Amino acid sequence: MIEFQNVAYSYGGGELLSEITLRLSPGSFHFLTGPSGAGKSTFLKLCYGELHPTAGRVTLEDRDLRAMSRDDVAQMRRRIGVVHQDCQFLDHLPLVENVALPLTAAGQPVSPEDLFDLLSWVGLKSLADHLPPSLSGGERQRAALARAVVMSPDVILADEPTGNLDWEMSLRLLTLLVELNKMGKTILIATHDLNLIRSAKSQVPARVLRISNRRLQLAGSDL
Ligand SMILES: Nc1ncnc2c1ncn2[C@@H]1O[C@H](COP(=O)(O)OP(=O)(O)O)[C@@H](O)[C@H]1O
Ligand SMILES: [Mg+2]
Repeated sequence: MIEFQNVAYSYGGGELLSEITLRLSPGSFHFLTGPSGAGKSTFLKLCYGELHPTAGRVTLEDRDLRAMSRDDVAQMRRRIGVVHQDCQFLDHLPLVENVALPLTAAGQPVSPEDLFDLLSWVGLKSLADHLPPSLSGGERQRAALARAVVMSPDVILADEPTGNLDWEMSLRLLTLLVELNKMGKTILIATHDLNLIRSAKSQVPARVLRISNRRLQLAGSDL
């Protein structure tokens, strides 16, 4: 559904990403890897229209993200859940309200029951009333995942979601992402954690994309 057609991106200097052509088909599970500074976060931003390519185009269901109206962009963003690298919360609002924010911001009804189910799923139900600053790194990441899926998006993009987590917590987060994929959601995870990728590959048919020399390559089965 998300498609890159000969995409390039530059922040103003030389090209950071070049000649990228890719289709993220519905229900697929992809990892995006590559050294720090290779352009993984930039690639994710191109996927959800935070950035527009400097050449080529990115489409969502054959519609050019750049050509969308403001309303269409808002609509599109609801279909793509993003777990940002530095998950930010509104520190004065309890966890449950932070998770519900995408719904309230979109003026959609909030079902407390569904919210608590979602918090249970990520193992945070008992912390629903807690304020974000009191949460651990792993709890924050799981809260960010809950917030990313609260609108029932078709696609989930996660930027180094296990970057600051210990191995046990990384696996726990991965399990949640695998479960979402088994429910039919398209998953793209930027990470340089090869152990995480290996662990996922034993659970789902995940493909590994690597940014190398500005190009996107499909990594072999050597991982
Ligand atoms: N807003 C920006 N303006 C200029 N350069 C940027 C900006 N954001 C990122 N970069 C640069 O682009 C390169 C790729 O960054 P990024 O996509 O964050 O890589 P990664 O996520 O793989 O570590 C880095 O060299 C970074 O410094
Ligand atoms: Mg990054």
